[in-house]
Amino acid sequence: CGKKDEAPAAAPAAAPAAAPAADKLKIGFMYVSPIGDGGWTFQHELARKAIQEKFGDKIETSMVESVPESADAERVMRDMAGQGNKLVFATSFGYQEFVQKTAADLKDVKFEHATGYKTADNVAVYDSKTFEGAYLAGIVAGAMTKTKTVGVVASVPIPEVVRNINSFVLGAQSVDPSIKAKVVWVNEWFAPPKESEAATSLINGGVDVMYQNTNSPAVLKTAEERGVRAFGKDGDMSAFAPKAHLGSAVINWTPYYTKVVEDTLAGKWQTGNFWWGVKEGAMDLVKIADDVPQEIKDKVEKAKAGLKDGSFAVWTGPIKNNAGKEVLESGKVADDGFLRGINFYVNGIEGSVPG
Ligand code: GUN
Repeated sequence: CGKKDEAPAAAPAAAPAAAPAADKLKIGFMYVSPIGDGGWTFQHELARKAIQEKFGDKIETSMVESVPESADAERVMRDMAGQGNKLVFATSFGYQEFVQKTAADLKDVKFEHATGYKTADNVAVYDSKTFEGAYLAGIVAGAMTKTKTVGVVASVPIPEVVRNINSFVLGAQSVDPSIKAKVVWVNEWFAPPKESEAATSLINGGVDVMYQNTNSPAVLKTAEERGVRAFGKDGDMSAFAPKAHLGSAVINWTPYYTKVVEDTLAGKWQTGNFWWGVKEGAMDLVKIADDVPQEIKDKVEKAKAGLKDGSFAVWTGPIKNNAGKEVLESGKVADDGFLRGINFYVNGIEGSVPG
């Protein structure tokens, strides 16, 4: 058969595949807060460094920090593309409309957007299951609160944050169902003075164990000053408050970033919606304080093991909202659609979700 002898039709001399092998994949990271925030952005930066180390001269990464969720974000992403970046990580929810707009124009650039929900041919969305870390922290909080009132300093009122608040409280109530909770919103991701003020008002209201969904260790530092307890979130914040620190719910973005880079280098990048948690090594509760009872540490380990093997889900009914209405019936496990749309407080949380 003559076919075998024909020159391979798909390899003309000037094909793009003939580009120098040394061409690096350029990857840009856009951050909403400073890399020194100790939390959300610090963790993204750790993962950027990890992939740079892992892929060596196959990739060239760069980052821009403290980019507001405004038209500035579009300018930064267009600059990144202009500098030859073919993969851009936009690492905050509020970049969503700017990612969509920029990606629609720049079809040869792939965008990865945390923690949005809008995809496109060249936009994938991803997040970590921060609510699992919140629940594990909640278990510890439930054992350590003496006032039976825990509190959360909340950031931006979107379902992701409401889900985390609720999950923290569900964890606490798994130890003691009578536990109540208070929430103060600061309406920003990174605003240390406001985070501190919010923490102070929670403490003044009788809260003695706090969690937060903001990016800095300000809540933890306030706890240290006031003699109450709190958690690190997103990053390991233990060093900021040695006495107050009860544990840190840490995100590891490296497994996901590694997958994305591998796929992109192999020409297999694809859009989608990726949500990794304890099971995928993307979430963990670390450095639980020494004075937390062993039985509680065991309970945390058991929940973690269940999340890993799929025998346990944080959002399993019965769950009631704070008006007493059942929102998830007994034995039912919430699906992703339910989880992504949570816009109520669970039983025991004071007040209502900002409208
Ligand atoms: N910090 C800054 N942006 C975000 C976000 O989109 N989600 C979470 N959980 N924290 C953030």
